[in-house]
Parts: sequence; C-alpha cells; structure tokens
Amino acid sequence: MISKIDAKKKISELVEQINYHDELYYKKNYQEISDEEYDKLRRELLELEKNFPEIKLKNSPNKTIGKIDNNQFRTIKHNSPMLSLNNAYSIDEVESFYNKTFNSLNKNFLILAETKVDGLSASLRYENRKLKIGLTRGDGVKGEDITRNLEFVEGIKKKLPSEFPENLEIRGEIFIKKNIFEELNKKRKDQGKPLFSTPRNAAAGSVRQLDPEIAKERKLSFYGYTVIGDKSFFGNSISKIRDILKIFNFSLNHPAKLCSSLDEMVKFYKKVRDMRSSLNYDIDGIVYKLDNIEEQKKLGQTARFPRWALAHKFPAENAITTLKEVSFQVGRTGTITPVAILGEVTIGGVKINRATLHNQDEIRRLGLSLGDTISIQRAGDVIPKITSVVKKSIKPVKIIFPEQCPSCG
Ligand code: IVH
Repeated sequence: MISKIDAKKKISELVEQINYHDELYYKKNYQEISDEEYDKLRRELLELEKNFPEIKLKNSPNKTIGKIDNNQFRTIKHNSPMLSLNNAYSIDEVESFYNKTFNSLNKNFLILAETKVDGLSASLRYENRKLKIGLTRGDGVKGEDITRNLEFVEGIKKKLPSEFPENLEIRGEIFIKKNIFEELNKKRKDQGKPLFSTPRNAAAGSVRQLDPEIAKERKLSFYGYTVIGDKSFFGNSISKIRDILKIFNFSLNHPAKLCSSLDEMVKFYKKVRDMRSSLNYDIDGIVYKLDNIEEQKKLGQTARFPRWALAHKFPAENAITTLKEVSFQVGRTGTITPVAILGEVTIGGVKINRATLHNQDEIRRLGLSLGDTISIQRAGDVIPKITSVVKKSIKPVKIIFPEQCPSCG
C-alpha cells in the first residue's frame, strides 16, 4: 500500500490527466490515447479513491458522467438522468455481476445480451407522437440540444406510430456506419482536411456541428436501446420493448440474445467478439441487461450506473501514437517493404512499436510523414496497420524511398 502523501500526489496527477483526455474526447471529439489506456487511468484513480476516500478531489472525473461544452449548444435537463454503464474486462467480473444479481433477486432471471454500439448516446423526446427534442447525454443530468442535427439521421422517426403512447422518450446511440466512415475520410483526404481517427469520433464531431447542413452530409445512423415513459404499451421487459420496436420498423442493434445462464452470456460475448469485424458498425463490447423491468427497479442504480446492467468490453483494437521512422526491409526475393517504426503503445495487452506499410502507394494513400500522429489498428492476431493520420506533425519530414537496395547497394 502506498503512503498517503504519495497517494495524494498520484490522485492529483491522474485527475489532471483524465480531465485533459475528457476535454479532448467530449469537446474536441478527438483522442490521444486508446480507450484501453484511458480505462486504465480511470481504474487506477477509482482504486486510490476507494483506499483514500478522504482525499477525493473536487474536480475528480468520478463525480460526473460526461462533460458539456457550455458555449456551443443550449442545454436541457433530462427527464431522468442518462447514466453510464459499469465496465467489466474479465469473465470473473461478469460472474460477480451475475452472482450479485442472483443474490439480490433470489430467483432465476433472464439477461438480454446485445452489442455495445460505439457511438454517442442520444435521447429523443416525442410529444403528441412528434419528435420534439433530441439531446446528447451531456453530463448525464442535462444534455445538449441537437434537435436540428437529427433531421436526416437514418433510424430516427419524426413521428411515432399511432398505436404508441403520445409522449415518449427513446434512448439510443448515434453512430456512423463503417462504409460511410471510410467514404467520409476518403473525401476529407482529397480535400486536404484532417481525418477522423474512428467512426465514433466522426459521429460525435458530426452531431455536435452547429451547421445542420454538415450534419446532414455526414449520413449518421441511430439504434434505439430503450424507451422511457409509459411502458404499459410495451410490456414489462426490454426484450418485449425490442420486439415491439422491431414490429414497427425501428432500427435496432443486432445481434442480441436472451440468456438464462452465465454460460450463455459468455458464449454470446465470445461469438460476437470473433465476428465483430463483419458488422457494418463499430462495437466496443457486449451490454448485459436484466430483462425484467420490475427486477431492474429492485436492483436500482448508483449515481453513475444502473446495478442491473454491465458492459463487457472487448480488448481494444485501436491506439494512437507517432510515426518515428520508416525502415526498409529487403525480402528474400529482393522486394523492398517499408515498415513503420512507432512510439511504443499497448493494444490489448500487447506492446506495439512497428506496423506494416505494404508499399510506397500505401504511404501516399495515407499521406504520411515522419512525426505525424497516427491511428493504428491491431485486429485479432493480424499485424498492426496504420489506419489514418489524425494530426500532421508541425515539422513533417518527408519519407524518402531508397533508390538503391538498402541491403547490397
Ligand atoms: S443501455 C445506462 N445499451 O454505452 C443506461 N447502452 O458506456 C443503459 N451504449 O451511455 C444503457 N450501446 O450510450 C445500452 N446496447 C446498448 C448500448 C449502450 C451503447 C452506450 C450508452 C451508455 C454508454 C455507457
């Protein structure tokens, strides 16, 4: 155990670091570290705050859910707080969630397992069955009014079916489909604009545009995951809510599965983890939710997340680093392959300091220079590759392809 003086120093360091990255993420829609590195900082802080509750700082990020950029959008109070989700990274943590649920309910229960959409949460408020207001999660208590930007979002209905209750709120996730993200970045590259590092950053940047015309061009999508308000029409479980939304042609995230054991939950997690690259939208894990709404109420919530749900995160695939050097490898047949030498980062527990660059065209396609800040991806066991330049170096150094063989001259 560390001393109180050291803990205090570490806590204030962590708070400063996390607040810096939150500022980037929530206000500038940009990331300098991967989700995994970020979560590590959060966990370290949470652990220290637990062991030294007397030194919890006023500006600790663990006191709020998100951040609001005050001078951009009008803010409106949510009908009920928009919470975050508790994260799990191991099966042990999922087991502990399962056992706690069992001990609280003292009977068997169903868990709905579904994909965790990597976008940004939004609440859609309908009055007289017409879409009135759309809000971001904001700080969980109040959200930013993004109504004007929702006009052309695929999957958002302007009017609810006549069978639906008059006043209703639908909550879900706004995101950009992978193919649209790639088109968008291609276009931006041709226009010499900085690229988005992930679909999530692109979606967040587009929703929070003051100009609705830009938001429209960006082709956003929406998946609903719950309704708030009079649920009698929908029934007493989230799987029933999903069934009804589906009948009425709302867009929902797939796949999803109703599970009656821990074993089924873990099987579903592994299955989706292994096929996630075939989905046309980014997911960062599986959300497990206690299906029955009465049972959810019994478990209740903390200030930050419901006790009846858990996000089981996938190992990270992306990280952000810098391109330090390019070396040229000579193959056995004399072909020359450029290899990127990177500032070392960890993805999914594996240290990475190199990425493949294939050939000269790839360097041109990415618009790479030495010193650039880049986004890299390591999906499964595949060799890491550079996906985009997220920030040009202030002093970019051109990559020069050798004219003579670097091995024999
Ligand atoms: S249920 C807390 N289901 O993840 C209220 N959330 O990291 C219950 N998210 O703020 C949320 N996909 O925006 C739920 N299938 C899904 C989700 C999902 C993405 C987001 C949501 C939440 C965040 C927490």
